[in-house]
Amino acid sequence: MRDETLSLAGEWLPVCNSEDVPEGGARGFVVADERIVVWRDSIGAAHVWRDYCPHRGAQLSLGHVMRDQIVCPYHGWRYDIEGQCLRIPSNPSLRPSKRACATTYVSAEQYGVVWMCFGEPAYALDFFPEAGIAGGRRINLAPQTVRSSAPRVVENFLDMAHFSFVHAGILGEEAHTEVPDYDVVQTPDGGLEARRCRYWQPAGMPGQGGGAMIDYVYRVKRPLIASLTKMASGGQGALHIMLAASPVTQTETRAWLVSIHEDDTAHSDQELYDFNMEILMQDTPIVESQWPARLPLDLDAELHQRCDRMAVGYRRWLAGMGFEYGTVSDDRALE
Ligand code: FES
Ligand SMILES: [Fe+2]
Repeated sequence: MRDETLSLAGEWLPVCNSEDVPEGGARGFVVADERIVVWRDSIGAAHVWRDYCPHRGAQLSLGHVMRDQIVCPYHGWRYDIEGQCLRIPSNPSLRPSKRACATTYVSAEQYGVVWMCFGEPAYALDFFPEAGIAGGRRINLAPQTVRSSAPRVVENFLDMAHFSFVHAGILGEEAHTEVPDYDVVQTPDGGLEARRCRYWQPAGMPGQGGGAMIDYVYRVKRPLIASLTKMASGGQGALHIMLAASPVTQTETRAWLVSIHEDDTAHSDQELYDFNMEILMQDTPIVESQWPARLPLDLDAELHQRCDRMAVGYRRWLAGMGFEYGTVSDDRALE
């Protein structure tokens, strides 16, 4: 692992949606500069490995799955679910050595997402409990490439002041641009929460017209894990959204939203999907336009106003924990 990547070692990182890799399938991804294969065996268990065959370095994701083994596409070496090579077809009488072993990572599936950790997870994979709310319907968007850093993508998710400009007619409008003061607090689990957030939205919930004041709570539990809950004031049926930000490189991210729609029987899954996707698509070119792509942690690097309290809290919090991946401090070259 490179130096900056070390700050990701204990983090759960989203790789793809569970449905992206069917039973018996294998697919390649890049997570934090590392080629990753996700393959699913015949009982449906997902395995997340380095996408690298130790024989000659071919990508295992180009191979195929045989029950509970994955077969390298180059010379047909077969690996079991522990990563150990069991068979070398060109020398079938040889017993493969212990070194003939693929690199495996800790992985889990939660919220319809396949997650991995490069080292030992520093915390439990339970940061989106709203997914378990009775009467909630889960919608996972398809991952979208954003040519910017994961921290920039997370900060955009926490930002309210752009609603009337980037999401005009849906999450905001020019007649209501003010972001009322809100509180940013550190939570007992070490995360940050923005409370008492409010914003006027013309159509802020699926199917809602006529405008309403919407209450928000924003949470950042880990450097690349954020979620929000929004609800029309006095209304029923909250919308909970988790941002999955999968870092490809320090300046490229695959981002998607996992949303829980409470008590919404009026809309089809496709309508809810389209509602969330439109928002994500509106954010993408703006986030890609931000320079530098890596998030500046030096608070003098950009201008912060009262409405940016959560962003300032996020940057300070990242700096305090020494989180480096996708960030920049003043003594490093910008890109
Ligand atoms: S490179 Fe994988 S079997 Fe040769
Ligand atoms: Fe946005």
